[in-house]
Amino acid sequence: MVQAARTPSDEELLQLARDVAANAYVPYSRFPVGAALLTRGGEVVTGCNVENASFGLTICAERTATTRMCAQADPQAPDGGTRRRIVTAAVVALKAAPCFPCGACRQVLHEFGCQFVVVEDADGSAKRYPFAQILPHSFGPEDLDVR
Ligand code: THU
Repeated sequence: MVQAARTPSDEELLQLARDVAANAYVPYSRFPVGAALLTRGGEVVTGCNVENASFGLTICAERTATTRMCAQADPQAPDGGTRRRIVTAAVVALKAAPCFPCGACRQVLHEFGCQFVVVEDADGSAKRYPFAQILPHSFGPEDLDVR
């Protein structure tokens, strides 16, 4: 988790996602993906995909980043405070553009309030989408009577 001195641009978030994709463990798909999450607290958390010989155990880049975000949140703050809330999720695949989060990752990002998704367009530019467009008619914590 890196506390940014100022709010990173979409292009900077994509670059951080591209950088961490170099760490992807992808012996089966050879499809490296990186994700960079900007939290409401202004931190950036990154993650890459990690595959497994038991293919179904593969973890996508977005979920690696999300679990890192939770693990690194301030345990003193209620709900990890703003550090466990996602403003923007930037996603880069080294072999495909754009690369949108898969359905499972959309659901996991929604759990933590993700507001925007940024992907790299085919021409290399950053494209930003409101989360409700990425996951319309969503189901989430707000639908459960757990308050
Ligand atoms: N993958 C991600 O990490 N994120 C996505 O948004 C799409 C798919 C990974 C999973 C698997 O390791 C590889 O890409 C091919 O599906």
